[in-house]
Amino acid sequence: MTTISIIGSGNMAAAIGTRAVKHGHTVELLSRNTASAQALADQIGDGATVGTFGARPAGDIVVVAVLAGGAVDVVSHHGDALAGKILVDITNPFTADGSGLASTAGNSVAEQIAATAPDSAQVVKAFNTLFGHVLAQDKPVDGFLAGDSAEAKAQVAAFMQSLDVRPLDAGPLTMAHALEWAGLLLVGVARSGAGFDLALGAEVV
Ligand SMILES: NC(=O)c1ccc[n+]([C@@H]2O[C@H](COP(=O)([O-])OP(=O)(O)OC[C@H]3O[C@@H](n4cnc5c(N)ncnc54)[C@H](OP(=O)(O)O)[C@@H]3O)[C@@H](O)[C@H]2O)c1
Repeated sequence: MTTISIIGSGNMAAAIGTRAVKHGHTVELLSRNTASAQALADQIGDGATVGTFGARPAGDIVVVAVLAGGAVDVVSHHGDALAGKILVDITNPFTADGSGLASTAGNSVAEQIAATAPDSAQVVKAFNTLFGHVLAQDKPVDGFLAGDSAEAKAQVAAFMQSLDVRPLDAGPLTMAHALEWAGLLLVGVARSGAGFDLALGAEVV
């Protein structure tokens, strides 16, 4: 059992937090909106707690579950409180019309977070290719991850595996931009006939 800290109190915080406690983890929620963090902690139950937004999170793994446009600000707001933490960037920086990405190659949200976070923090992109409502179904699914630290990726992969999310390592943090495009691919396939009860995966043939 691990303590997982989640910054944010929206749909993905709910989906990851609920799945985490179902699989035996302890969840701490930090949000700029303390009341909504408390409401989500009550909903998740199983000892979920509310931390102080801006203070040092309890978990070694900190899931940044805010909108893409706010992720860098949130990490900057926490500053040295995130020293030594593994920051999991789940964001999909879609453009307003959903036709592309606001991030660019070499400057994915994950790389922007890495440039902002304390040097001792490690950033792993993960969970962005999974719809929240699909995670909530608690079925086995595939999940991609990318990052530069083998140790941090191993810890995030172990967390994913514990949730029945098969970790598929896509490579270094430069691959985070490909994963952000994969988020758009997921939505495109869902909208174009497959429907939204959908998860991306890979098959070994
Ligand atoms: N929903 C999905 O299926 C899905 C799938 C994959 C990835 N994602 C990604 O996951 C992230 C969260 O998505 P969501 O669906 O959970 O969104 P959501 O339900 O709208 O929740 C967003 C959360 O981010 C917080 N937030 C937004 N801007 C912020 C800022 N500048 N500073 C601090 N907190 C801020 C919001 O706080 P307030 O309540 O105070 O506004 C809220 O807690 C997004 O980056 C999204 O691209 C979503």
